[in-house]
Amino acid sequence: MRTEQLVRTFVEFYEERGHRRITGSTLLPPPGDPVLFTTSGMHPLTPYLKGRPHPLGRRLVNVQRCLRTTDLDEVGDTTHLTVFEMLGTWSLGDYEGPASLEWGYELLTEGLGVDPGLLHATVFGGDERTGPDTASLELWQGLGVPVEPTAEDNWWPNGSEGTVGPCGPDSEIFLWSGDGPPQSTPTRDNRWVEVWNHVTMTHHRLGDGSLVPLPQRNVDTGLGLERLASLLQGKPSVFSCDLFDPWRRLVPALWELDEPSLRLVCDHLRSAVVILGDGVRPANTGRGYVLRRLVRRVLTALRRDDPSRS
Ligand code: ALA
Repeated sequence: MRTEQLVRTFVEFYEERGHRRITGSTLLPPPGDPVLFTTSGMHPLTPYLKGRPHPLGRRLVNVQRCLRTTDLDEVGDTTHLTVFEMLGTWSLGDYEGPASLEWGYELLTEGLGVDPGLLHATVFGGDERTGPDTASLELWQGLGVPVEPTAEDNWWPNGSEGTVGPCGPDSEIFLWSGDGPPQSTPTRDNRWVEVWNHVTMTHHRLGDGSLVPLPQRNVDTGLGLERLASLLQGKPSVFSCDLFDPWRRLVPALWELDEPSLRLVCDHLRSAVVILGDGVRPANTGRGYVLRRLVRRVLTALRRDDPSRS
């Protein structure tokens, strides 16, 4: 299934279930948002997650470009990208987490043809502040999907992506990417690839780390488009899915690179193009510095593979 068709299937599935499609935003979050770039589809929706009524209602779906610098050092492995697209859905004080998970399961297995035997879920197991997410646990058990409870891995955001803002327990859906039959669990075997996160947004985290209940219980989900596309297309990494076809034609024709450098160069050039397209220019600080850093890392990779380049 090509990514275009995957996006269409996703959006139509949710539109049929009462969701309205909203346009994705730029990579630049709205003023007042603590993050430098949009790292998740929920950033542009923060005011509505905090209770402001959305003009299109309580059920939304979209495709949002995102950028994560927290994963920069992992770019080049099989699953991480700097800029990626997130397919997102929201319940703004409408349905609850288990309903969202049930639809997610239906879409993956019936809509997209994923073998249910290749799925694993994780759920929030509770910590000193908040109890375990038993509703999601029971939902997965009822569907016959293996489920693993964890603490910090199932609270979003988990601290590394900004400490203030809407947050809550999440349930993540993993797909088996190994050759043989599925083994072990997502926290113990990285052949389980996280594809979809369903967050029940219940709280707002303040600067001092304390949690204040939100005026409404929301659901915020995010599915990594390139990750799911590469798995559905039977490809060994995100860099082999159809979205990277143009890059795989262009870059090796310009420079002879080993596979890790090729992946890094494709990722960083693609990300730099998107950042430039959203109006950022190279600078010594802030967003412009991220852009400069990406370009510098590309140049370093090119020089490493051929020191005569300058
Ligand atoms: N906001 C959630 C995430 O990015 C869905 O994982």
